[in-house]
Amino acid sequence: MSGLKIALAKGDGIGPEIMDATLDLFKAAGVMDAASGGVEFVPVEMGASVFAKGNSKGMTDEAIAITEDSGILFKGPMETPKGGGGKSINVTARKMWNAYANFRVFRTLPGVETVYSKAGIHLNFSVVRENIEDTYGGVEHRLSNDMIQCKRLISAPGSDEVHRYAFHTAQKLGVKKVHCGHKANIMKMTDGMFLERFKATAKDFPEIETGDVIVDALCMNLVVKPQQYQMIVLPNLQGDIVSDLCAGLVGGLGFAPSANIGKHISIFEAVHGTAPDIAGKGIANPTSLILSGLMMLRHLHMDKTAATIENALLATLESGVHTGDFGKKDKPSVGTKDFVSAIKDRLGQKPTTVPAVDVPETGTKAELKRPAKPTGVQVIRTFKNIVTQVVGCDIYLDSPLSPGALAEEMQRVCEDTPFRLTLISNRGTQVWPTGSVYTECVDYYRVRFELKEGIAPGSIGQSRTVALMDKVAEKFVVCSYELLRLFDGVKGYSLAQGQ
Ligand code: NAI
Repeated sequence: MSGLKIALAKGDGIGPEIMDATLDLFKAAGVMDAASGGVEFVPVEMGASVFAKGNSKGMTDEAIAITEDSGILFKGPMETPKGGGGKSINVTARKMWNAYANFRVFRTLPGVETVYSKAGIHLNFSVVRENIEDTYGGVEHRLSNDMIQCKRLISAPGSDEVHRYAFHTAQKLGVKKVHCGHKANIMKMTDGMFLERFKATAKDFPEIETGDVIVDALCMNLVVKPQQYQMIVLPNLQGDIVSDLCAGLVGGLGFAPSANIGKHISIFEAVHGTAPDIAGKGIANPTSLILSGLMMLRHLHMDKTAATIENALLATLESGVHTGDFGKKDKPSVGTKDFVSAIKDRLGQKPTTVPAVDVPETGTKAELKRPAKPTGVQVIRTFKNIVTQVVGCDIYLDSPLSPGALAEEMQRVCEDTPFRLTLISNRGTQVWPTGSVYTECVDYYRVRFELKEGIAPGSIGQSRTVALMDKVAEKFVVCSYELLRLFDGVKGYSLAQGQ
């Protein structure tokens, strides 16, 4: 057999059970039918067994090569090793292959009872989560005895890529309104830029209405009136939390599919984990993985095959067939294999109590258009030609001194330099030149130096700030340093709380 090749990793725990069941269904529906242009699944080694051999990536070089060659990875859930050097394969794969957009669909399914379905509220909406940046960069440091830092990185090109994917997908699916979820009222620069790039990207899609909503209000709105949303795009961490909340609205993680979309390589996987408590018992629910597989088939333009399988799945759920984790208790549950057999029996049927999916005339042949493989690492840029000017620096100190004592020392240090001390803050709150006695301080300070009166921005270079840091470091432990610059005349740094 030779069709479009797809890297296949069955995963750990319940992974092999639900993947075998899904492949069994796909085979019956002709997904692997060479004569009609189906796909060929190529097994790759990833997960617990690879970690156990001492490979800290959790995937063999061959698995990496096959995935890169095929452009698609269909994967079961994989265990994240606890402690030791092994990182989550899921996060490694998304980041290594630049799968920048996580797309999840949430909808009311027949036979899956929720408070909303009982109230007659039908849900069908999606979340697009930025998948690479934010605190998921995992850039963390211990800065002092009592302080740990995690850097939150949000880039303009990274934001642009995820917003563009969201609007393109909205266009394709006929979604009329896209919301941006954010916390730009507090994180004015990071979330502020994510929101600003959302608005800038929206200009290229004038037919799509847009809205923005602060993430805490979004969570409340989602619980109170989820049907008001069609698509929500969010930064990584907020998107992670909100998308699990959304899964809860439609019956839990067992019903939420997910696609990790990249320019070159995309990964399709169930949202839930390896369910170690039920692994090997043959009772796991394969719906999330099947739905993720359907997203993959649609990504490959196999719309007819996907619609046929989806209608059979809906007809099965509607008939009351269910695994142990959901469904009416008056009907005995079935195991994974019997659940899939029930779907296979209904291939060609349509649901009657919920709208059936339109089955298009064509779409059994797998097609994947990919840009040419990059010849080297690409540098992506949104803003070029911006004029920057150095105006000072923030120096971060590990110190047990009081703000007043620290200020005296710092003023002495900068006497013969182009800089003056303008601010000391602790945990982001100004504690000098003014502050409140109620502000508690910890052993980690930010000390801000800005140009003395009469020295024009840009008239000195970065080296003078480094020389200042060198002087500070003669007496104090410098944990980190940030350059203060104007970008086309606009401050590239935030003010302290209370400043
Ligand atoms: P989990 O999702 O594996 O399980 C949570 C609960 O949901 C358990 O009671 C489990 O039995 C149930 N459950 C999950 N999927 C089910 C299914 N298909 N059918 C029936 N019941 C199901 O989350 P947990 O226990 O926090 O994580 C277990 C392992 O999975 C960890 O090592 C974690 O790192 C990994 N994980 C992997 C993911 C991935 O590969 N994408 C995603 C989430 C977790």
